[in-house]
Amino acid sequence: MRFPSQPLRVAFSRRAPSYPAVYLVRARRMASSAKTTVGLKDETLFKTQGLIAGKWLDAKDGAVIKVTNPATDEELGTVPEMGLAETKEAIDAASVAFRTWSKTTAKERHDLLMKLFKLMLENSEDLARLLTLENGKTLTEAKGEVIYSASFLEWFAEEAVRTYGENIPSSIPHIRSITLKQPVGVCAILTPWNFPSAMITRKLGPALAAGCTVVIKPPPETPFSCLALTELARRAGIPDGVINIVTTQKNVVDVGKELCTNKAVKKVTFTGSTAVAKHLYALSSSTMKKISFEAGGNSPFIVFDDADIDAAVEGAIACKFRGSGQTCVCANRIYVQSTVYADFASRLAAKVSAFRMGNGLEKDTTHGPLIHERAIEKVERHVNDAVERGAQVLVGGKRLQPSPNNGITSSNFFAPTVLSDVPADAQLSNEETFGPVAALIQFDTEEEVIKLANNTEYGLAGYFYSRDVGRVWRVAEALEVGMVGTNTGTISQAVIPFGGVKESGLGREGSHGIIEYMQTKYIAFGGL
Ligand code: SIN
Repeated sequence: MRFPSQPLRVAFSRRAPSYPAVYLVRARRMASSAKTTVGLKDETLFKTQGLIAGKWLDAKDGAVIKVTNPATDEELGTVPEMGLAETKEAIDAASVAFRTWSKTTAKERHDLLMKLFKLMLENSEDLARLLTLENGKTLTEAKGEVIYSASFLEWFAEEAVRTYGENIPSSIPHIRSITLKQPVGVCAILTPWNFPSAMITRKLGPALAAGCTVVIKPPPETPFSCLALTELARRAGIPDGVINIVTTQKNVVDVGKELCTNKAVKKVTFTGSTAVAKHLYALSSSTMKKISFEAGGNSPFIVFDDADIDAAVEGAIACKFRGSGQTCVCANRIYVQSTVYADFASRLAAKVSAFRMGNGLEKDTTHGPLIHERAIEKVERHVNDAVERGAQVLVGGKRLQPSPNNGITSSNFFAPTVLSDVPADAQLSNEETFGPVAALIQFDTEEEVIKLANNTEYGLAGYFYSRDVGRVWRVAEALEVGMVGTNTGTISQAVIPFGGVKESGLGREGSHGIIEYMQTKYIAFGGL
């Protein structure tokens, strides 16, 4: 059933008494979301419903999820708490749309993706504001994410028209052999809250470019960026049913299970924790789906004594404190060679103590809040555990209390922290912290630090600073990770193969990642 926003809202407020209870719940919800404004230039980008077969929809039972601003704890609005029934409908809609979308030419798909890319740039201020409101990152970072997010659409538009097959020299006379690339089918996309926009387009871009249709389950913490993007996709002319959105929180287990086991879904792609990735992997095996997973990280960041220390400090800050430390690729363990340890530690501590935490919309804010209380609890647990085992706090080390004098307006802020001498058995050395904590560890030799760096089941990214070209090759080859930054703390771009080894995931995104959404078909031409 379709609920076009404006006319029905009016109708409900006039005639509500004669409607059944479930409609009254919806009417109240629509009336309350009608009041909501988030200060966008184009308020129609603020969508508060899921999307199935081109229709914006509430949950069948009218249930909703409240979405709050982590910087203020204020409610921003609600989205539907959808469940199994809506998920099945979304998969059906994507299956129907696949019949026609998969037959469009690569050039048509290129043109539509380029339109969406341009619409994202034209609306980047609104998209960035929405992203800051729901995620908490600063407006500067949010603008950066919107540009990064759009770049996946541009990149994969350009990849769409280059999904060549091969002409294979045959070893059998009278047979000619070729391959062609075909879209896999309906894809399930499950994304995290730390990059509410870019983690969608990193998957949606290649899926649409390849000729696949999708069902997206955005995170309940940050659904509005996904919904605004979807609205722009509709404006770009992407047909109904090609993109379907199921918003869910309490029903996530049922929704996730359906997405990973429904026979009509041919591919599952997920970014999030390793524990959830393993669960989805197991479910997806039941129907042998194609998968690509970007899971957790525990990145080492190594500073050798031949490094440019100023550059290493800047790199460590960019890498560790992006998104207030809430990225999968951020440095979790910072190893510094003993001869430069004290110097590096004091320079890093001085810079970090100058950070200004606060609401990301304020122009002086350098770093925003964490996403929610659970995130704060984990960071607090890691810091307390490290301190109990002998680490010293150089800066920060605790939650920030809200006060009218310090710009802190909710309980979701943790002070940017630098810890010295973090022991190898600390939780922080072994688990992803996902918060603004730089954990410093001393080492003496290259051999020793490579062993320490690789002593983890994760293998997403690794970074090091050195000006010795031989060492740069040796260490880059020795690190057991999917991505290495040498003399840089910033590695992400749409054009690079993003992904991990070990328990950090399977498959690569960006770069030639369109192949993850396609099958290679071999055709033999006989009887020549
Ligand atoms: C992530 O944290 O999962 C993604 C980070 C990035 O794309 O740079």
